Amino acid sequence: MLSPVDQIKERLSISDVVSSYIKIDRAGANYKARCPFHNEKTPSFVVSPGRGNYHCFGCNRGGDIFSFVEEIEGIDFTQALKMLAERAGVTLEKVDYGAHKEKVHLYGLLDEATKFFEVNLYKNEAVKDYLKKRGLKEETVRKFRIGFAPAEWNSLQSHLLKKGYTDREMEQVGIIIQGNRGYYDRFRSRIMFPIADSQGRIVGYSGRIFSIGTTEEKDVAKYVNSPETALYSKSNILFGYDKAKQTMMQKNSCLIVEGQMDLLMSHQAGTTNTVATSGTALTVEQLNLIKRFTDTLLLSFDADEAGFKASERGVRLALSLGMDVKIISLPDGIDPADFILKDETGWHIALTKSKHIIDFCLKLLREKNPDDREFRKEVEKKIFPYVADIVSPIDQAHFIKKVSERIGLQEDVIRESLSKIKSQDQSNYQLEKHEATPLISPKYSINHRLLGIIIWQDGEKESVISLKMIKEEYTRVMEVSADEAITRLSDSEKNNLALQAEMYYSPETVGRAADELLKNLEQEVLQEELTITNVLIKKSELDGKPADDEILKKHRELSQKIDILKTSRFSG
Ligand code: UTP
Ligand code: MN
Repeated sequence: MLSPVDQIKERLSISDVVSSYIKIDRAGANYKARCPFHNEKTPSFVVSPGRGNYHCFGCNRGGDIFSFVEEIEGIDFTQALKMLAERAGVTLEKVDYGAHKEKVHLYGLLDEATKFFEVNLYKNEAVKDYLKKRGLKEETVRKFRIGFAPAEWNSLQSHLLKKGYTDREMEQVGIIIQGNRGYYDRFRSRIMFPIADSQGRIVGYSGRIFSIGTTEEKDVAKYVNSPETALYSKSNILFGYDKAKQTMMQKNSCLIVEGQMDLLMSHQAGTTNTVATSGTALTVEQLNLIKRFTDTLLLSFDADEAGFKASERGVRLALSLGMDVKIISLPDGIDPADFILKDETGWHIALTKSKHIIDFCLKLLREKNPDDREFRKEVEKKIFPYVADIVSPIDQAHFIKKVSERIGLQEDVIRESLSKIKSQDQSNYQLEKHEATPLISPKYSINHRLLGIIIWQDGEKESVISLKMIKEEYTRVMEVSADEAITRLSDSEKNNLALQAEMYYSPETVGRAADELLKNLEQEVLQEELTITNVLIKKSELDGKPADDEILKKHRELSQKIDILKTSRFSG
């Protein structure tokens, strides 16, 4: 009997699935493409219809149709399974596993809450007037489902209780808060901007204060935002992304603004490739979301000292991901929302005049520093890091030449200085960058696959594999028991992994798969330790000291173990 996943794979070829997202070119028996998951000029992304998988030799990502769809759509396995089953015409019986159902229920809750806010806005003339004055058309208000949270402590809570939702569920999605005297609504007397995930499902809110002539709540924040929840992960969401995706691809650029109002006015003005950071620094995850569709960023930027500081990190991340960063210059002290309200044509003109970040900064710093020496110092401090981050050697050479001409410093001297910046970065900022995107390691995914099988089989009345033996092996390899590892997963992770195992393997294949996974896991664990010893040895080399005997011994042992594992696997 074929597993559901195998049935789907039989009907859909990897090349058909991939080519519905990106352009792929035939290369012998395989296909080649520019990797959709990282930036590259020459294609290192290979699709193999024979093996039913893909692999990128640039960023090391790889997998089957399911992982491809998960990654490119930003969805989880359950959703990818559903999508591909539908496409393949395979009916699935068991998809509504607990976690998935629970999530659907919570999305329903937020949809109901959004309706409640919308209804309250339509009833409130003062708020409607205010939005109109800010320049928002009714159509935009409706499209983005903007609403109003009444100035009461429990209006949303009691509305949702009547609809059959529980306090616990409301707390889970962050719309009510537990106080000393029970729960109360998080958002009160606020204009509500729903925040959607990449597929347009509402996962949270940003609420702007709106006080109706009273003095209450004077000291509160201008914006209150939903907390992180099971549905809402801030570093992974950009406000407006779901509505900007399409145009981002068409226009091959993404406009980034700061605030909710900026985004709404920009979309209303027709620049629908706009997303908003909601006042926080851009994360690698957010940039990767954008990179699915384009490598060109347009930033509207405060040209003062604070603006430089605020966007520096995001700009550097973007450059080091190989993106092009351009700046839209607006008159001092005015944000896009207010600018568009005053002068929509001016906005479109400003966009056509956008400048590469380095050109923009060169011009700005020259204007601010008439003194040549001061100018040079500022350029070194503020612009060199950007030049150092540029990935394309051709682009970098272009800007080195330009900077060299402007500040009258030889190119060689500049290059020297850039390489210093780079090596400094390797130690702090690059490391940090890696922490922000834990690239899913083989060890991590093998471990999760295996745990998925264990959870699945644990839940079956009669397990088809020898669970006891697998668990023992697991403990030996990972130095933690499988049960312990499983308790560290969230409920939805557990369900997702179990479902994944159940869909991937059939009762006939799962035993062998578990054995295979255990061997791979052991190899990865040893490999990881080996890498650590390698780093330690390298470090002492750099310090000019001989490496510790202990470490050298460990290094030898690990290499041997790995060799043995490898040969045993190839011979048996
Ligand atoms: P601003 O203070 O510039 O507000 O914050 P704004 O966007 O111009 O808002 P309006 O025009 O007065 O309505 C910029 C962004 O920072 C976030 C919000 O996303 C806001 O849009 N922010 C600001 C917060 O999250 N909390 C705050 O207290 C303030
Ligand atoms: Mn504003």
